[in-house]
Amino acid sequence: MSGDASQVLITEPEIQRRLSELGAEISRDYEGKDLVVVGVLTGAALFVSDLIRTITVPMELEFVAVSSYGQATNSSGEVRLVKDVGHPVRGKHVLVAEDIVDTGLTLRYLLDSLSARQPASVSTCVLLDKPSRRKVEVPVAYRGFVIEDRFVVGYGLDYAGRYRNLPYIAVLQSSPE
Ligand code: IMP
Repeated sequence: MSGDASQVLITEPEIQRRLSELGAEISRDYEGKDLVVVGVLTGAALFVSDLIRTITVPMELEFVAVSSYGQATNSSGEVRLVKDVGHPVRGKHVLVAEDIVDTGLTLRYLLDSLSARQPASVSTCVLLDKPSRRKVEVPVAYRGFVIEDRFVVGYGLDYAGRYRNLPYIAVLQSSPE
């Protein structure tokens, strides 16, 4: 299948404006705390790098990578950590930054994994939330946008490895080969 990503759902200025609001909230909440932002590769790479530039309190940046959807648009339900944080998070305030929460399986797995290392706290920040697809409960502390059950690409999100470079979020529509 090839795709068409011409239907823009969230524009670049809308994303950046929302990130400034999230950054201000995060900065207020983590004032005086030892903050580590943990970005989830690869999808959240663009989101995290823009988000942290709106955070004004001292912080550290780490990345983890989990096994992804591969080339399908449905979750297999299997999550595997393929890259861990580079430094211990014990005693620190961890904020997991994910591109999208869909079934919730990825975030649930990461929260469980990171919570087991005795951080001072673990919280989550997601750019997009698709609540209608949730299979497991996950707390979302900071949320960019709530979207309907559509497959979206751009701004880090991919379909079969493509479209990550779009500066906006678009709905992927299938088109004939
Ligand atoms: P979850 O574990 O089902 O919550 O899925 C999280 C992961 O699925 C995200 O990090 C994305 O990689 C992928 N994903 C879910 N929905 C979409 C979508 O609409 N577009 C692109 N990737 C998606």
